[in-house]
Amino acid sequence: MALYKAIDILKLADSKHTAALAFNCADYNMVHSVAVAAETVQKPVICMLHPDHHRIENWITPELFAKLVADEAAAVSVPMAMHLDHCSDFDYLVRALKAGFTSVMYDGSMLPFEENIKNTREITKVAHAMGATVEAELGHVGIAATVTDQSNLDLYTQPEFAAEFCERTSCDSVAVAIGSAHGFYKQTPHLDLERLAAIDAATRTPLVLHGGTGIPDEQLLLAFQRGINKLNVGTEFFWLYYQTIKSYDAPDITQLPRTVQAALTEYLKKKFQLSF
Ligand code: 13P
Repeated sequence: MALYKAIDILKLADSKHTAALAFNCADYNMVHSVAVAAETVQKPVICMLHPDHHRIENWITPELFAKLVADEAAAVSVPMAMHLDHCSDFDYLVRALKAGFTSVMYDGSMLPFEENIKNTREITKVAHAMGATVEAELGHVGIAATVTDQSNLDLYTQPEFAAEFCERTSCDSVAVAIGSAHGFYKQTPHLDLERLAAIDAATRTPLVLHGGTGIPDEQLLLAFQRGINKLNVGTEFFWLYYQTIKSYDAPDITQLPRTVQAALTEYLKKKFQLSF
């Protein structure tokens, strides 16, 4: 099947009142495992590149990532899409769009409301002109290790501003802050589902939940019913990759990729039980 656009997968999820899964990936082992698992369970999926995995950790470039996901998508029979995660650098966003990303996130969540609107609107115009879509963020999804970020109501998305934000930016989807955070949680998160329902009622834009690692499944399923159409997962996927390499002790190093892919695929197949 040809590469899908992430927004079409989100709309599909929305029509079914549920969410698609989106995984941070940084190399062939991860993208290929996502494709194999999605094909096995016959579910749509989104592969996301975080700019840090290129610019800081030097795993892969956006150009290579785009080719890799397109190749893997062509080989499976389920919808598969690519997305650039968390980026606030205009030049880098344009680079990713030119490389073939059909979905990018502009993250202005640390900026004042008006500045976030202005920048999101600007990149959305560019992306739309290039046939791509934009995920924005309103409120701020922080870092789980702080413990306080996930419960800091000042960072949460305010439903009364959500409609205005989506209307004025023309963003295609929006990440919301409702009690999740990035990384491993030190305290079990408690998603503010009432707030989520209010945001969903106020907007017609698909909603995205970040910080998918470690949120209890029961909460996730309720969040999907209340308007989340995309769940981002990264930390636990990378952690499994790391643990698998760490525990590898076979003498034949050529079998390492196969071992990593088998472990990642098993994890993904289970994770897909959450999705449609
Ligand atoms: P986790 O790393 O906490 O799973 O979050 C991933 C994410 O939200 C990427 O945008």
